[in-house]
Amino acid sequence: MKVTIKELVGSIKEKLSFSKVATRILKLFENDDLSSYQLAKVIAMDPVLAAYILKISNSPFYNFSGKVKTLSDAITLVGFEEIKKIVIMISAKNAFKVSDDIDRMLWEHSLAVAVGCSVINSSVGVTDDGEAYISGLLHDIGKIVFKKSQLVNYSDIFKTAYESGEEIRILEEKTFGYNHADVGGYLLKEWNFDQEIVDAVSFHHLNFTLKKTADFLKKAALINLSDFIVNNIIGLGKKEASKDYDAVNNLNSARLIGFYTDNPVGLVEDIQHKFMILATAMEG
Ligand SMILES: [Fe+2]
Ligand SMILES: [Fe+2]
Repeated sequence: MKVTIKELVGSIKEKLSFSKVATRILKLFENDDLSSYQLAKVIAMDPVLAAYILKISNSPFYNFSGKVKTLSDAITLVGFEEIKKIVIMISAKNAFKVSDDIDRMLWEHSLAVAVGCSVINSSVGVTDDGEAYISGLLHDIGKIVFKKSQLVNYSDIFKTAYESGEEIRILEEKTFGYNHADVGGYLLKEWNFDQEIVDAVSFHHLNFTLKKTADFLKKAALINLSDFIVNNIIGLGKKEASKDYDAVNNLNSARLIGFYTDNPVGLVEDIQHKFMILATAMEG
């Protein structure tokens, strides 16, 4: 008998969770009058989170090396939006519970896609930076659900797709009747994420030939484009990267959000560079 999405997500409830403090912090950001004091107070409830925020604020990603000594320094210097991204990044890394090579690949792929979404979004303005980043970071969370569940054997499917370059989404659909984007959307809804993020994640593997330009489709297309670059050019996700830089501007998802670059090499280098700094800062 086939496992339903509900059963699948239900089976990992104990293993996969999103930090309560992080959820509270994200809720705080919905409040326009949020003060630095309030934010610092909530972050301080989670000392590990607080320590990471200081570490990343002092990393070369921002130019404050060594200057960020307290949480209030971090909030004032790095800024609210960036703190939001750091909180999400740390909570996602915890949720990913990296324990083997597949988990690590998925984590690095997700971090790179988040950076890509943020970089591409800065030129097309499909959404705000925090949301671009969050949806990129969580776009493949459905794969983590498959991987952590004992109801299915996902590692073989993952390896087959990685080795052959076949689309994992197709293999998932053949085996389970649904794919990781469906599962990810379901989980994020259970975790009470914004519907816009849920939709962007759920639809990131559409082919985007439709002429429709609803906001959530643009957000999904942003993920799709960043995902393409990370898989096929940077090579985090596929064994053989095609390095087809010209393909970037010709993707349906790029067209849908009106993205064009005359320097795809520079774009990829920028994403790669930012990814490397963050990946290093997140280690340990
Ligand atoms: Fe995906
Ligand atoms: Fe992906």
